[in-house]
Amino acid sequence: MTNKVRKAVFPVGGLGTRFLPATKALPKEMLPVVDKPLIHYAVEEARAAGIEEFIFVTGKGKSAIEDHFDYSGELVAQLAARGRTDAIEELQAWLPAPGKVAYTRQQEPLGLGHAVWCARHLVGDEPFAVLLADDLILSAEPCLKQMVEAYGEVGGNMVAALTVADEAVSRYGILKVESQDGPLVRAAGVVEKPPRGEAPSNLAVIGRYILVPQVFEYLDRQERGAGGEIQLTDAIDWLADKAPLHGWCFEGQRFDCGVKAEFLQANIAFALAREDMRDELQAFLRTLPDA
Ligand code: UTP
Repeated sequence: MTNKVRKAVFPVGGLGTRFLPATKALPKEMLPVVDKPLIHYAVEEARAAGIEEFIFVTGKGKSAIEDHFDYSGELVAQLAARGRTDAIEELQAWLPAPGKVAYTRQQEPLGLGHAVWCARHLVGDEPFAVLLADDLILSAEPCLKQMVEAYGEVGGNMVAALTVADEAVSRYGILKVESQDGPLVRAAGVVEKPPRGEAPSNLAVIGRYILVPQVFEYLDRQERGAGGEIQLTDAIDWLADKAPLHGWCFEGQRFDCGVKAEFLQANIAFALAREDMRDELQAFLRTLPDA
């Protein structure tokens, strides 16, 4: 089997309850950081990593995501009438090519593992990436690109990894670390949301994965894990003695945009990283008391 990663799955079927009321009618993945929705960053990152086919696992109330990645003849006509050829060109540049985007629906949000399983027929028999749009990463080299390069050497299953504090381990999948060689960590498995004090390490799994299609063999069983959800980390743990499992300690700053305070931090960090916004925003921040 080839190690080339051509397809990416974007699970966007979750309810986003931690971000209510913003997410009552608007998908969490459409929340904008500066001027792009979260899902737009995820697709850009996938494309930068060489991904050619984009598979979205959507759910009820998520049609804004499909509209976002669709051609809008009306908008193009209106921009043309205003002489905005620059804006038209910009729009066309990021729109996925016809036939390269697929949508399937997760009928019930039964967990991340279940969402990925819903994409099994679209993925087929090849390794594939999974990107969670609410994990937004600011980095010089896109996180998935870093991983795809490392993956070419090691194959198997790979997850993005981040060191977290002791009090945070119970919110993540935590790697059972065997050895480390620079940013590449060899792991014997992964435990979902271990209680503090029982975590095998402080290395947490973040929302970027490269997986072999055998992951669907486990997910086919529809076994419920932590929180009663069908967990992707349980499937990855099951695979650990069948294919090598690696963590990739990525270069970059990660924001969990499913959490309000981190979403705000992401907006500030991404705006400060932009030349057209930095000075104005910095000047404003300096006016804040205690800033
Ligand atoms: P989260 O658990 O962070 O998202 O899943 P959530 O369930 O939407 O949010 P809260 O906890 O209620 O606030 C991370 C990603 O996995 C997707 C979500 O859409 C999100 O992008 N997901 C999660 C699914 O696609 N299906 C699910 O059943 C669960």
